[in-house]
Amino acid sequence: MKREFSSRISGFYKRTPTDRLAEIDGLGVLDAATLAHLERGGGLTLGVADRMSENVIATHALPLSVALNFRVNRRDVLVPMSVEEPSIVAAASNAARMVRMTGGFFGDADPPIMTAQVQLDDVPDTASAPVRIADARAAILDLGDASIPRMVERGGGCRDLDVRVLDEASGVVVVHVYVDVGDAMGANVVDTVAEAVAPLVHELVGGRMGLRILSNLPLRRRVRVTASVGTEAVGGAEIADGVARASRFAELDPCRAATHNKGFMNGLDAAAVALGQDWRAIEAGAHAWAAMSGRYRPISVWHRTEDGLVGRAELPLAVGTVGGSTQVHPGVRAAFGLVRTPCARELAVVLASAGLAANLAALRALASEGIQKGHMKLHERKHALELVAGAQVGGAS
Ligand code: MEV
Repeated sequence: MKREFSSRISGFYKRTPTDRLAEIDGLGVLDAATLAHLERGGGLTLGVADRMSENVIATHALPLSVALNFRVNRRDVLVPMSVEEPSIVAAASNAARMVRMTGGFFGDADPPIMTAQVQLDDVPDTASAPVRIADARAAILDLGDASIPRMVERGGGCRDLDVRVLDEASGVVVVHVYVDVGDAMGANVVDTVAEAVAPLVHELVGGRMGLRILSNLPLRRRVRVTASVGTEAVGGAEIADGVARASRFAELDPCRAATHNKGFMNGLDAAAVALGQDWRAIEAGAHAWAAMSGRYRPISVWHRTEDGLVGRAELPLAVGTVGGSTQVHPGVRAAFGLVRTPCARELAVVLASAGLAANLAALRALASEGIQKGHMKLHERKHALELVAGAQVGGAS
């Protein structure tokens, strides 16, 4: 039976996986094939796995969980998460519950513009190279578009370019072509463009051809998200102060910023993995962005307000709702069924919200009882499982 859609489901964590799935089905978000797949335990068949990678000998599973309570841009969202670390899903759901009391997460993402890089070395006249490239702008963009006709048909394509001289002495010149990749993550499309335009670029400026590949720091494809949380909701004024002080610590110290950002990426990556995204690309872009100012900084910050706390995060984020494993992996298709977000820009906002929730939960725990109490409770469950698994392996040998 369909119920009104809400990401707030009380007592969800206390149920069995089967009951939880029935509860989600009651929300009417799953089609019959997805439900059947999840009822069988989800995962991946060996046949599909064998087509996804090489030298496959089996499949390797992770839990598929649902983080609750998320409200993003005034819409309730179930956030699928796959992660091996206990407490991330519970903590993110808990933080999302606090944030929804003040309206939820709000955010926006730039148009999906990715960067193709073409490297040239030993360029004889670096001073005139930018002008020669700029004069041929239309021809270069047309050549790029001709290499990705299906993307152009779908409304994407090459939009802009620029040129940088990285080293005058050795004539290192890099041309960027900016490509609108629509709802795709875009790596293949952008690599195709880089290879297609490189011969013309080379002809125009001379030198030796270097790399032709996307940049995993998509500076024109950024996402911003913000959330506020009330003093009472977060556990009182002392804890709210503690969260803000923890955030300031990360702003002052790269050693702390790395751990702070790890806590943020706990939420973002867990959702990215469930949704079949290229999490290595996401990680590379996030940390390069964190270091952009010349000093490694936190991706998210929390400040004290009169009523509580406000948190903000910004990072480059290349995610797709088409292509990659989104159509191939049945578990990923199921995760898309849960998140109900067909547009890549919206998905970026959801993922950044998951990051901000995980970050708030970590800072709140650190500013109050410490991280170990909650962690250890969940670790104990995992340890009990390790004992069972150990006994099974021992028994089988
Ligand atoms: C653990 O996975 C993540 C934390 O260390 C993050 C943080 O310290 O902010 C708890």
